[in-house]
Amino acid sequence: MQNPAQPAAPGFGRRRALLAAGVVLAAGIGAAADEPASGDRTASRGAAAAPPPAPAIPFHGARQAGVTAPQQPATHLLSFDLPQTSATTDRETLRNVLGTLTRTLSTAASAAPPDPRLQDGGTTRLTSLVGVGPALAARLGLNVPPGLAELPPFSGDRLDPARSDGDLLIQLCAVDRWTLAVVAELLGTGAHAAGAVPRWTQSGFLPHTAPGATPRNLFGFKDGTANPDDASVEQWVWGLPGPHRNGTVLVYRRIRMDVAGFAALTEGQRDRVIGRRGGDGVPLTGTAEHDDPDIYAKNPDGSYVIPATAHVRLSSPRLDGGARMLRRGYSYDDGPTDRGLLFCAFMRDPAQFTRVQNRLATRDALAPFVEHRASAVAYVLPGAVPGRTLGEQLWT
Ligand code: HEM
Repeated sequence: MQNPAQPAAPGFGRRRALLAAGVVLAAGIGAAADEPASGDRTASRGAAAAPPPAPAIPFHGARQAGVTAPQQPATHLLSFDLPQTSATTDRETLRNVLGTLTRTLSTAASAAPPDPRLQDGGTTRLTSLVGVGPALAARLGLNVPPGLAELPPFSGDRLDPARSDGDLLIQLCAVDRWTLAVVAELLGTGAHAAGAVPRWTQSGFLPHTAPGATPRNLFGFKDGTANPDDASVEQWVWGLPGPHRNGTVLVYRRIRMDVAGFAALTEGQRDRVIGRRGGDGVPLTGTAEHDDPDIYAKNPDGSYVIPATAHVRLSSPRLDGGARMLRRGYSYDDGPTDRGLLFCAFMRDPAQFTRVQNRLATRDALAPFVEHRASAVAYVLPGAVPGRTLGEQLWT
């Protein structure tokens, strides 16, 4: 999607343009999502016993697996619009689209998907989520959480409308891009036949990371360390008791990163921008990665150990009455001048994102190195049990 002839966006201004194709990416990312899983490598060396195939991740359940399953190495987001006619017709179109999405996703995620392109590599390990955008919800009077709304503009935003928003948002995740490409095509065909119009798509990836370890972003920092535990996710991320209990809200931001400009800082400067050490992710006030950053700790001279403009200070739940969001970001690489983070975070109420981003946009030491280029909000529907369709709660 990136036009290589296009000059680096003026938004970075004084910052170094992202022209250095040979930028050293400390995270060691690359073809991570395209390489065979370790089991496949073993098999290709002719080792004695092939490992048992990984089981399929069930599509059906009270909550959509795209939020609950462990984060997978590759993602693909798809946004669709529903043409505006009459409310009655549009509601019928939405029912049909949700029906086809449910059928396609549940079949593709099953242990035996019928498409031969999904049969050769064991189970697909596909996970997905489907959400509806605030504009569609308002237009059709859908039963969505009361806080579902578009985000306000933030200082420094340079959003591309063609890559933002949409009536329906789908996030696919899998171990490889092949699965995502095939399923995206099946979804696109079905959704189009049911009356939806494609709006934008976006691919992302994670580095190879040992199980249980935190993946790094393109700045080389571990990203996702301070995510909430299961109890906090119940408290802050899923809906309140009622029809939205098993739903949540996805806030998506496509954030371009000035990788070369950030890499030009000294290691100490980079650590103070974030408030954690890049190498091991330990907060500047701690000794282990999962220590809670102490944003009130001071140096003998009275200055904060985690600087006043550090990213983890300004995004700290302590400044937000303890409210937590679940971040499951991915990196993207759409050409030498367009790399960055697909910020994907789940929360009960998108106003939480607005509060945090208002602080980050104006004061974050990271702000000179990042630029928000696209944005979307979607109500992530509760899951569907077998025989039911995603979104049945929308009509109640
Ligand atoms: C390219 C942009 C961004 C980068 C590179 C980035 C990177 C990081 C890193 C390295 C951490 C520390 C490790 C961790 O706890 O995960 C972190 C924490 C965090 N970030 Fe970001 N971030 C970005 C954008 C955002 C945005 C837009 C928000 C929300 C508006 C956000 C919210 C948070 C939160 C809530 C934390 C955890 C704070 C804590 O509980 O200690 N980040 N981010």
